[in-house]
Amino acid sequence: MNRRDLLYRVALATAATHISAFSSAETPRSSFTRASTAEEVTAGLNLAGKTAVVTGCNSGIGFETMRVLALRGAHVIGTARTLDKGKEACAKVSGKTTPVALELADFGSVGACASTIRAMNVNIDMLILNAGIILDDWQQVNGLEKQFVVNHLGHFILTQRLLDRVIAAEQGRVVTVGSGNHKQAPQGGIQFADLSGRHWYKKGYHHSKLANGLFSLELSRRLRDTRATSNCVTPGPVDTNIRRNLSTSSAPPNMKTPAQGAATVCYAATNPALAKVTGEYFADCNPAPQSAQQTDRAMAAKLWQVSTELTRAVASPDS
Ligand SMILES: NC(=O)c1ccc[n+]([C@@H]2O[C@H](COP(=O)([O-])OP(=O)(O)OC[C@H]3O[C@@H](n4cnc5c(N)ncnc54)[C@H](OP(=O)(O)O)[C@@H]3O)[C@@H](O)[C@H]2O)c1
Repeated sequence: MNRRDLLYRVALATAATHISAFSSAETPRSSFTRASTAEEVTAGLNLAGKTAVVTGCNSGIGFETMRVLALRGAHVIGTARTLDKGKEACAKVSGKTTPVALELADFGSVGACASTIRAMNVNIDMLILNAGIILDDWQQVNGLEKQFVVNHLGHFILTQRLLDRVIAAEQGRVVTVGSGNHKQAPQGGIQFADLSGRHWYKKGYHHSKLANGLFSLELSRRLRDTRATSNCVTPGPVDTNIRRNLSTSSAPPNMKTPAQGAATVCYAATNPALAKVTGEYFADCNPAPQSAQQTDRAMAAKLWQVSTELTRAVASPDS
């Protein structure tokens, strides 16, 4: 462990006393199950007056999340890689939705998306970081492994640019869509020494999902003196377009429907019992086991610092 890592660990051991109030043991449990749908877990909720941002609104879990949050009365700002895709998705949904273009592999697009949302002058009650890709070949963006860029760094910038609006909400929530695949991340976790992916791209998706979980954890620490919360969810295996880039079909058996896949996302974003729950990881609408790496606060803090350096030009709310 180098000196900087040691300092992080000391600082975080101190910080841990503030967030221990939200340990899993105290997180309320729900009676929802793997079979529960997003409509079921939000039944009876009135989200009128609330604003949600959902990334990846045109497909799979993101589309269903947008549909159900709008059904319950929220204004959903849905992002898609092109404005046309976003418009098409929003047109299929009843309720108030606004499409915005967001290409997470292009930091300029992320900045522009954030500026467009900021110009709407709304507080953000739910920031749902859902968009994602799986690749099985080695692709890079500006020398960085692409899934790390799309699934983590793009969302990192978006969050930085919108966080004051989340904090200003009555009880803002950031929900990061991670995955149980974080448990298969490369040995040692986040590959700080070489983020090109050259030696670990076969595990690049797992690496990016660990990044999602660590990002959510560190964000919860940074939000500890606010009303806002940050939680990570895994939807479980869901029958969506996520596997479309894979050369071999490796779909797991017994996949959930998108309606079931969006349930935990919507639960974490809306359930009144979770108003003070932060830094948690959910599966099937309940706290779930995660790897030791995904609860490593030093790794989470280091990821935040490295992500800040990699995105410095576009991450500030004023840029
Ligand atoms: N399905 C599962 O089994 C499963 C399991 C665990 C976790 N997850 C997570 O669930 C989330 C949603 O995935 P899904 O299953 O609903 O997959 P999906 O149907 O493929 O939807 C993914 C969404 O992300 C968007 N997206 C992809 N690359 C993007 C980019 N570069 N910039 C902006 N948006 C981009 C897609 O847009 P386009 O349609 O234009 O490509 C689409 O809207 C992902 O974070 C995924 O990792 C899924």
